[in-house]
Amino acid sequence: MILALDFSRLNEALEMARSTARWVGMFKINIHLFTAAGPDAVRKIGALGPGIFLDLKYHDIPNTVAGAVSAASELPNVRLLDLHATGGAAMMRAGAQALAQSSNTRHPKLLGITILTSLEQADLRRVGMSGTPASRALSLARLSKRCGLDGIVASPKEVRQIRRGCGRDFLIVVPGIRPHGGPSRSDDQARVATPAETIRAGADYLVVGRPITAAADPQAAARAISGEIAAALQAS
Ligand code: C5P
Repeated sequence: MILALDFSRLNEALEMARSTARWVGMFKINIHLFTAAGPDAVRKIGALGPGIFLDLKYHDIPNTVAGAVSAASELPNVRLLDLHATGGAAMMRAGAQALAQSSNTRHPKLLGITILTSLEQADLRRVGMSGTPASRALSLARLSKRCGLDGIVASPKEVRQIRRGCGRDFLIVVPGIRPHGGPSRSDDQARVATPAETIRAGADYLVVGRPITAAADPQAAARAISGEIAAALQAS
């Protein structure tokens, strides 16, 4: 389980991270906390033990993305980085190449964002994208693999077909997790599933944010979700 630490203040993020670390495999820092607290957030949260998914979703010209990937790969304890697959093949290849040339021998793995879990078919049409979220996500996952990326980020609804299309060794990281018993559609996420359903579909990592960070008792929520994941893994 990757816990999304979407906070404006580093102290709040650190407090949440310390109190839930025993149930968490990695902490995720996205543009929210990174914009507020910068690389200091990566250093301080990374020092707690579980590694960091630095979720900055790069999307720019190839040279700029290569520079950003290279700089991020030098930060301590970063295990995953990501960029938008819709940024194109040249951009993805430049990012992968920057990592391959990194002086950090334990450099992070690079993921492509396929289609954001908040988007539905009508949203894609409005920005000129044809097809369903599932078909777009699969073709972007295949392109990410061809460009040398280590894996992708996709919604729970696309995990099964991406696993089939891209193979066992390709990392599939999945946000849009909403635990058993909760509403099937909540907040701004559109394409969601429970932790157990997502594990059964073949995901490698589940990204969970508000179901833990906004819970009345975050520790109890983290314990329950990690228990659901463990039970699903055991049964599979
Ligand atoms: O609170 P919630 O569980 O919805 O958090 C999901 C996290 O995953 C957020 O930090 C968001 O930035 C991130 N994310 C996402 N969809 C993607 C990639 C990342 O929701 N495609």
